[in-house]
Amino acid sequence: MNTSNRIFLYKRYERFWHWSQALLVISMLVTGFEVHGTYHLFGFEKAVNLHTIFAWTLLTLWAFTIFWQFTTGEWRQYIPTLKKVDAMVRYYTFGIFRDAPNPFHKTAEKKHNPLQRLAYLALLSMLSPVIWGSGLFYLFYSHWKSWGVDAYLSLEAVALVHTAGAFMMLVFFIAHVYLTTTGHTPLAHIKTMITGWEEAD
Ligand code: HEM
Repeated sequence: MNTSNRIFLYKRYERFWHWSQALLVISMLVTGFEVHGTYHLFGFEKAVNLHTIFAWTLLTLWAFTIFWQFTTGEWRQYIPTLKKVDAMVRYYTFGIFRDAPNPFHKTAEKKHNPLQRLAYLALLSMLSPVIWGSGLFYLFYSHWKSWGVDAYLSLEAVALVHTAGAFMMLVFFIAHVYLTTTGHTPLAHIKTMITGWEEAD
């Protein structure tokens, strides 16, 4: 075992972006499932308005973040690799419960483990387009006729796709929060995302 040393992993903008996105996604889950009729919190109309405001705020945040990822070169952190994916799966399914060492060692240049890279890429390339695509069609329902898409789309289908995306986002969120607790203490990863510093083993 190495002695403890600190590494700086998350820059200021990155932490701002991460926590704002987290807050917005949680708010979209809360308002979205109210629109769906799962519970009553703000009232339907207010929930719809809030949901729309959060959607535009998230879109703006993403525009800045995409710019940040490319100007800093940090987008490379998301390039997928299959190397050691099997070791990570073994670790999360068995090793972690037997105090086995984590097969992946973070550095500032490689801060996502191979499984994380795949998960974030899937989120970005599959779930995001589903939620955004259906969300935008939902939002611009009144324009369908002038766009000439009303013959091909139905509101029910768009709602179903959007709701399926929302459930997938909920599953991602639960798994993501669980995995934050798997550091050397349950709150270690959360602390890193707040301060930017990781206490490496
Ligand atoms: C994390 C992201 C999101 C989640 C979890 C989410 C969740 C939901 C859920 C569960 C519903 C109710 C669906 C139904 O029962 O028909 C809904 C409705 C809706 N969502 Fe989202 N959504 C998200 C992102 C977005 C985005 C990015 C947009 C727009 C670009 C959007 C626009 C809408 C609209 C317009 C409605 C329908 C509101 C109405 O009935 O008038 N959503 N959302």
